[in-house]
Amino acid sequence: MQDLTAEILELKKSTGAVIFAHNYVAAEIQDIADFVGDSLELSLKARDCKAELILFCGVSFMAETAKILSPGSTVLLPVPDAGCPMADMAPAEEVKMMRSENPDAVFVAYVNTTAATKACVDICCTSANAEKIVSSLPADKKVLFLPDRNLGRNVSETVEREYKFWDGCCPIHDKITCDMILAAKAAHPGCPVIIHPECRPEVVKCADYAASTGKMLSIIRNDNSEGFVIATEEGIIHRMKKEFPDRKFYALTPCVICEDMKKITLESVRDALKFKQHEVKLDAATIENARLPIERMLDVK
Ligand code: 13P
Ligand code: SF4
Repeated sequence: MQDLTAEILELKKSTGAVIFAHNYVAAEIQDIADFVGDSLELSLKARDCKAELILFCGVSFMAETAKILSPGSTVLLPVPDAGCPMADMAPAEEVKMMRSENPDAVFVAYVNTTAATKACVDICCTSANAEKIVSSLPADKKVLFLPDRNLGRNVSETVEREYKFWDGCCPIHDKITCDMILAAKAAHPGCPVIIHPECRPEVVKCADYAASTGKMLSIIRNDNSEGFVIATEEGIIHRMKKEFPDRKFYALTPCVICEDMKKITLESVRDALKFKQHEVKLDAATIENARLPIERMLDVK
């Protein structure tokens, strides 16, 4: 592994590549990245990135977002079939049909959507800003929230609007149950439970905090408990342990794993850099149309 890491660092230098990694990828991938973050943080980095070559360690909708926001860069996704099953639950053709049936609704797309789907919605959001984005919309407008019915319902608990939810979800977060949270609380008394808002609303209510993976780190910074139960994909725990070495972090049982995120290996990163392979390709019209709802999201103050 050390040889492979050294080879990647050498290739990074010779190609000038900037490596982005999502909080869920394997520990050894996070350790060779220039930036590790949640979807919103990575989008902002991509927008401000001047590098000719971006290597994106995450799933395809994230690499597409980087390409949309940094169209002049070559963006590589080391494993082209690292996808997000939730993003595939709202195909562009179905969203267009839904639009024609709901002409007065504002279409809000969670960033976990394909570029083609983003290209036919009004505004995007991430789990870090979903409440803020929906609150920014006119109060008399119906909100069509896609594809994550759980995130949408969690937002609707605090932001009053008329909603219609797409019937999608993250199969990994949707499987987390109240029993799992209660068992973890019993096993680790005194440790607050931090959950991702892609979980079902009734499960979120069993936890102490709900936040995007990036905001989970701020919660830990501001809560001086000795330990925390982490109710999301286990990859984030590596970052938590690195940033807060004096705290304890406990994963749920059974452990929550996104197999697509775990498809990114050091070998695939090395090969992508070495052979400049698996470039994210989007046509100019898709980039143009998908950029608009993302920029609207980034413009909400
Ligand atoms: P974050 O933006 O909170 O990192 O979430 C992305 C994701 O895919 C969660 O499953
Ligand atoms: Fe998609 Fe769920 Fe994996 Fe996040 S954890 S990338 S929502 S499948």
